[in-house]
Amino acid sequence: MSETNPKTIYLADYTPPDYAIDTIDLDISLAPRGACVVERLDIRPNPDLDIHGPLRLDGENLDLVRIVLDGEVLARTEYAVDATSLTIGAPPTDPFTLEIEVRIDPAANTALSGLYLSDGVYCTQCEAEGFRRIAYGLDRPDVLSVYTTRIEAPKAGFEVLLSNGNLIEAGDCASPDRHFAIWHDPHPKPTYLFALVAGDLAHRADSFRTMSGREVDLRIYVEPGKQGRTGFAMEALKRAMAWDETAYGREYDLDVFMIVAVSDFNMGAMENKGLNIFNDKFILASPDTATDADYARIEAIIAHEYFHNWTGNRITCRDWFQLCLKEGLTVFRDQEFTRDVRSGDVKRIEDVRTLRSHQFPEDAGPLAHPVRPQSYIEINNFYTATVYEKGAELIAMLKTMLGAEAFRRGMDLYFQRHDGEAACVEDLVGALADGGGRDFSTFLKWYDQAGTPKITVAARHDAGTGTLDLTIRQSTDPTPGQPEKVALHMPLSIGLLDRSGRELPLVDVSRGRLENGVVEIREAETSLRFSGIKAEPVLSLNRNFSAPVILDAGLGEDDLLILLAHDSDGFNRWQAAQSLGLAAVKTQAGGHPPNWMSRFADALGAAIAEETLAPAFRAELLHFPSEADIARDIGRNIDTDAIHRARDDILGVMGQNLADRLEELRDRHRTQGPYSPDAASAGRRGLANAALGLLVRGREDGDRIAHDAFRTAGNMTDMMAALTALTHMDTPLRAPALGEFYRRHRSEPLVVDKWLTLQAISARTTTAADIAGLMSHEAFTLTNPNRVRALIGAFAAGNPVGFNAADGAGYRLVAETALKLDPLNPQIAARLLGAFRSWRKLEPKRQSLARDALAYVADQSNLSPDVYEIATKSLA
Ligand code: TRP
Ligand code: ZN
Repeated sequence: MSETNPKTIYLADYTPPDYAIDTIDLDISLAPRGACVVERLDIRPNPDLDIHGPLRLDGENLDLVRIVLDGEVLARTEYAVDATSLTIGAPPTDPFTLEIEVRIDPAANTALSGLYLSDGVYCTQCEAEGFRRIAYGLDRPDVLSVYTTRIEAPKAGFEVLLSNGNLIEAGDCASPDRHFAIWHDPHPKPTYLFALVAGDLAHRADSFRTMSGREVDLRIYVEPGKQGRTGFAMEALKRAMAWDETAYGREYDLDVFMIVAVSDFNMGAMENKGLNIFNDKFILASPDTATDADYARIEAIIAHEYFHNWTGNRITCRDWFQLCLKEGLTVFRDQEFTRDVRSGDVKRIEDVRTLRSHQFPEDAGPLAHPVRPQSYIEINNFYTATVYEKGAELIAMLKTMLGAEAFRRGMDLYFQRHDGEAACVEDLVGALADGGGRDFSTFLKWYDQAGTPKITVAARHDAGTGTLDLTIRQSTDPTPGQPEKVALHMPLSIGLLDRSGRELPLVDVSRGRLENGVVEIREAETSLRFSGIKAEPVLSLNRNFSAPVILDAGLGEDDLLILLAHDSDGFNRWQAAQSLGLAAVKTQAGGHPPNWMSRFADALGAAIAEETLAPAFRAELLHFPSEADIARDIGRNIDTDAIHRARDDILGVMGQNLADRLEELRDRHRTQGPYSPDAASAGRRGLANAALGLLVRGREDGDRIAHDAFRTAGNMTDMMAALTALTHMDTPLRAPALGEFYRRHRSEPLVVDKWLTLQAISARTTTAADIAGLMSHEAFTLTNPNRVRALIGAFAAGNPVGFNAADGAGYRLVAETALKLDPLNPQIAARLLGAFRSWRKLEPKRQSLARDALAYVADQSNLSPDVYEIATKSLA
């Protein structure tokens, strides 16, 4: 355990800042041995407060050189410095200017927070609390300042000098081998949106004309030689800019918008004002390095970061507890964008799959927290699926209840009321309520209550009167620190089918609670009555996943087969296939497939052959529940080996049943000519490759089929689909194919990551010892987050058999790696440990091995707050 345990921060303790900082002038001089940072802060006491205490500025790992207050050097007695702050005991009561000079060491910064070097490029990451590692400041999101940033650097190696806003001056320094650039950002912003980049970078330039007719310069900066792989990213950016204008009336507000791609980055990307910085994995794409899924992710993340300009930057967060105010809303907006530019049903299915695989387990384990947490030790641990994905679902529910027009009115109101402010969740929900003339005060409970609500629906049909009674009950299991739960307010979308699959008209005779097929649930129990229902209907509930809940409508296989064949709601057709797949594996675990297996195969075979359905949607139907999905559904006493075997068996049976049809589908939809990343082409490839994945399980010579697909693949999408299929088979063809893939792509780190992941997730052949071996491979390094995620992260999250091996070797490997990583990069170390979050659902032997590994971590001294928090909370 740490010497002194890290401190917990509480939402309830929030107080407004004592001081305002109106302007920040930064002068940053970069040199090989450390950077010199001089800042000038215009400070004034917060006029809303009567008393002003000492001025305490945040600062970490800063080497203080001098402090000048209103032109006078401060004496050593007038301030105090410790490891995390600089405090001036008695600052002036009138506005004053503070000048502080520090030295920092970017080359030694492996945490990738603050100013650091990535492949010779200086870059910054300030969210959430990285600015304090660059300069002293009020490093909190409710202090907004106007920045002017002067960057000075050697010309050699640092040709490009960038910061937020507009370039106002550039030129040579007195010393002829150095140059400078001055950037000014007129939009007041918190410290976390500050950014700086310096390096030898190439760029792609383009422009965008906004709806009011302004020309905006667009630039995407990358390592020289990689500009050719930025074309798709640029087109995606322009699509996103246009979409925000039409969908929300939001226009860009600077003369230039820049994106820089770097190879060492803790997360996906960062929305710094006017200067987004990206993990290069989410910018660079070419047909032979990126898959369709990569292209789609690039488009979505570019949109996400761009949309933050309004939801995050123009309106920011009052404190970090309000993180979902910008993240949940911006994820919702990027999901809407993808639904509009690609396909609605397919995107909804993908988003629900992500929610269930990442957020549901979080919400059901020791790390459960509300969308707006009430306390934290390390805020970086709260950039979670709950804040992001569940946060987005809450906005989606509000939109469902309001309808598109009222939702837009509410959003307009939100921008109108809070532009330029640091806002709270209540401000957003309040604006949406006012926009629709509604009261959402009860809805706010969603933001404070952790756990996934369980909804059960009991149906009673009376053939004599033709009435159908539905009793809808909700409950939420206790979560850490929240033993009591309240009923939540949510929209539940309902449809009824007759037994031949026709949609029945809904005549609601229970006081008109149903509107457009949606009923709003508020209480623990809700009753609904429909009339005119002659025969027992099939329930299609929570259509389009209208509420983020676990639903038990008690449907048997007969009902599910009807829904799979006929539901007019695409999401529930897919859901029926998933539910049948889960039920089949659970039956198989008892030794035999279910007696309805061939009816399931017939229904699935018919659905995937329906020409009126989009290929991408049919590919989703073929996407079988994962081992993790099955474990989650079982919920307790998990034996990962048994799940793997049962799932394999069912896939074999299904593959055999559908082999001819799969082969035909694959032949008809596979890419033969040149590759294009557009959604329709990707959808056809997706169907062909999903068919391949199942076909190889159904055919005796599946490994040869997969290997042929590998040899003949004309793009990375097809190559990865073939290799993934091969990876899951125990065949002599596997190792040579992987070897060849590495030799061909060894110089491209983003493709090497795919090679690492392929091996990490292979349940057949990969053990913790293999992973340890790959950690000493030339391609691996612990200091690059993409490599760590590709190998260790993928093993822990994507290889349930290997990670949960019965000898505990998987747990030990991940725990030891997290400890090794902790002093280098605590954020990534803590994220790795998150893989243990479901340990209490395991069977007893695995449970105790996983607990031992976690306890081993928690027992170490000098843990970072990041790892300390995850390890101790996971054990609690
Ligand atoms: N705000 C970023 C986004 O979601 C994510 C982010 C938060 C981040 N902290 C970070 C990215 C640290 C990189 C490093 O768009
Ligand atoms: Zn974001």
